Amino acid sequence: MSEIRSVVLGVGGYLPDKILTNHELAKTVDTSDEWIRERSGICQRHIAAADEFTSDLGTHAAKAAIEHAGLTIENVDLIIVATTTPDLTFPSTATIIQEKLGMQHGAAFDIQAVCSGFIYALHIADAMIKAGPYKHILVIGAETFSRILDWDDRSTCVLFGDGAGAMLLGRSETSERGIISNFIRSDGRYCDLLMVDGGPSRTQTVGHVRMVGNQVFRHAVKDIAIAMKECAAQIGIKPSDVDWFVPHQANQRILDGVARQLKLRPDQVISTVAQHANTSAASVPLAFDTAVKDGRIKPGDLVMLEAFGGGFTWGASLLRL
Ligand code: UT7
Repeated sequence: MSEIRSVVLGVGGYLPDKILTNHELAKTVDTSDEWIRERSGICQRHIAAADEFTSDLGTHAAKAAIEHAGLTIENVDLIIVATTTPDLTFPSTATIIQEKLGMQHGAAFDIQAVCSGFIYALHIADAMIKAGPYKHILVIGAETFSRILDWDDRSTCVLFGDGAGAMLLGRSETSERGIISNFIRSDGRYCDLLMVDGGPSRTQTVGHVRMVGNQVFRHAVKDIAIAMKECAAQIGIKPSDVDWFVPHQANQRILDGVARQLKLRPDQVISTVAQHANTSAASVPLAFDTAVKDGRIKPGDLVMLEAFGGGFTWGASLLRL
């Protein structure tokens, strides 16, 4: 019997026009371009305009993915949005994007796993395609993290940016391509190390990002390596056997640390952290879109995606484009 596969039919990305460089940031907070580059590899980040919301970023990325697939919104059965910075507490950003895309059928919902959100959403979408009846699922990671940063806290505000990425998955019973394996994990014992100190139930405020950076760093390198090994082991390969590694773009030193541990070559690793900074759930699909559109990742290539974020949450997905 043929196996059902969730095949990547199209990818899209969107970054707001406004760029905030390290030099500009150093004029308003006690930091320097040199410190930010050395400790994180980040040179700049994009910041959404005042009248631009997470749903707008997600809609742009979704349209690009649908166009890349050569399909229309009529083909899409379901929208899953991974975000930590929804337009509103409710309705979901997914339903707002559904309306902005002019989609009056199907269903849409949000999921929340912070920076790992896109990997979680991919796993859910893959399972829903395999379970049926969905034929085309739009998976979006979209964030306006600039809205939940404390711009006086130099230990966090220099690290994040805004953006959105999307992937259109299609059901196939004949293809050798598509999602091959997924692995997700969380451990709530660490929820205080990376969190937002506000929310509708506890404080009735939006709150700001708080992070114990060096502890998050240590966990990220260890847990990402385990997730990638688990995902690769499901089909009997090693992480270094993949063509491309598309990591969560939090810190170049984390990317380098994981690559060293798993014996990945630097030219296997897609890095956009210098230009995009950490865009949370948008980071993996944005990096993926960048490398597909610039021709590095080609149809047929074996690609490992991974992410790590608040919760802690972490995970990986292995796919053939
Ligand atoms: O997406 C979710 C996952 N997030 C991450 O993976 C982020 C993980 N963490 C990191 O990327 C790194 O820990 C950071 C980039 C946040 C920090 O790098 P670090 O090498 O771990 O530095 P540190 O936190 O140990 O801080 C070193 C020093 C401190 O000063 P003292 O106490 O040694 O005098 C900080 O106060 O650097 C200081 N510092 C800064 N200095 C200039 C912290 N932030 C800044 C800053 N500019 N922006």
